[in-house]
Amino acid sequence: MDTLKAILSRRSIRSFTSEPISPELTESLLRAAMAAPSAGNAQPWHFIVVEDRAILDQIAETHPYAKMAKEAPLAVVVCGDTSLERYKGFWVQDCSAAVENLLLAAHASGLGAVWCGVHPNEAIEPNIRKLFGVPAEAIPLALIVLGHPNETKPPAERFDPSRLHRDHWGQ
Ligand SMILES: Cc1cc2nc3c(=O)[nH]c(=O)nc-3n(C[C@H](O)[C@H](O)[C@H](O)COP(=O)(O)O)c2cc1C
Repeated sequence: MDTLKAILSRRSIRSFTSEPISPELTESLLRAAMAAPSAGNAQPWHFIVVEDRAILDQIAETHPYAKMAKEAPLAVVVCGDTSLERYKGFWVQDCSAAVENLLLAAHASGLGAVWCGVHPNEAIEPNIRKLFGVPAEAIPLALIVLGHPNETKPPAERFDPSRLHRDHWGQ
């Protein structure tokens, strides 16, 4: 799929078929995630690949807005590792770039996916940390739930000229 078409037609998919995702496809998604830019090229990320049915079900019980994990074959927990940072404080941006790459790669591969936020939600982050045994130096930023789509959505049109400024804010 053409890159611009993938960007403009990606939507959050929260309903999945029971079809599994092949190991090759999973690896290609992670390859796309790790191709993301990062401050100082520090790549301060870790990815927990979750295919175990019981753990996917636990995600649905632990994260109030990730109930769709109950019927998904795959989830990826994206964690930032502050000990790997070269320029302090940029890990959220680095890991978010990786998340978006993964979402776009999933969509371009015919999969559906949704970004479920974890950090900095104080009611969710500690539970996800505990569920996956994330060590102190790492922070679970997001949970991506994936599968073969069981719903279709039209592209969203969000271009808003009122948010554009020419050469100076307000112009
Ligand atoms: C930081 C972040 C956190 C999000 N958290 C959730 C979530 O917990 N559960 C969920 O179903 N969707 C979540 N979403 C998806 C948004 O609801 C979705 O991207 C937004 O409504 C726009 O819809 P679209 O992705 O279909 O274009 C999150 C998105 C972002 C960027």
